Amino acid sequence: MTVPADAQLPEIVLRPIRPDDKDALVAGLGRLSDRSVYERFLSPKPRLSRSELAYLTEIDGHDHHALVAVLARSPGVIVAVGRWVREADAPQRAEVAVVVADDLQGRGVGRRLGAALAQAGAERGVEAFIATMLPSNTAAQRLMAGMARDLACARARRAASPAAA
Ligand SMILES: CC(C)(COP(=O)(O)OP(=O)(O)OC[C@H]1O[C@@H](n2cnc3c(N)ncnc32)[C@H](O)[C@@H]1OP(=O)(O)O)[C@@H](O)C(=O)NCCC(=O)NCCS
Repeated sequence: MTVPADAQLPEIVLRPIRPDDKDALVAGLGRLSDRSVYERFLSPKPRLSRSELAYLTEIDGHDHHALVAVLARSPGVIVAVGRWVREADAPQRAEVAVVVADDLQGRGVGRRLGAALAQAGAERGVEAFIATMLPSNTAAQRLMAGMARDLACARARRAASPAAA
């Protein structure tokens, strides 16, 4: 999915994460502010091990679904990552995490990524999203509320018209 450029936002492309995104993922993480890292991981900047990087990029798309946003003009630059991972003991529920590059925050990238993640969740039988975030993180709370609405709408559309869904 391509999101056209406008006055505020460079053109970005959303696509599934790939195993060869490891270096770009590390680079993107390295560009994040300490605040964004803390809000995403609820801890200081993690140094990702090889196995953690494999976990984050070598996904099955069904139990673990992840999308990246890259700049259309620089497709090697990851500017946002969003994922959901099913809970092992309640696979109809999935935990969500999203992070957007600091200079693009507040410009709708999270919403677009969230909508795409919700659509993918509905298509794969996810019924509810959960997320852990700081009480002070209003943007994340609003984003998650929007994703919950998107998931409910996509599920309702599929229930109303299973053939078209
Ligand atoms: C949280 C985050 C992913 C949201 O992505 P984003 O691209 O900045 O957000 P968007 O511009 O798409 O806006 C999403 C919602 O948050 C609101 N929002 C965005 N920035 C906001 C801010 N600074 N203060 C309050 N609300 C804000 C928007 O109005 C929108 O709400 P609405 O849909 O009800 O109108 C992004 O800010 C981020 O990466 N933060 C650091 C990491 C983090 O907190 N991740 C979430 C942990 S699960």
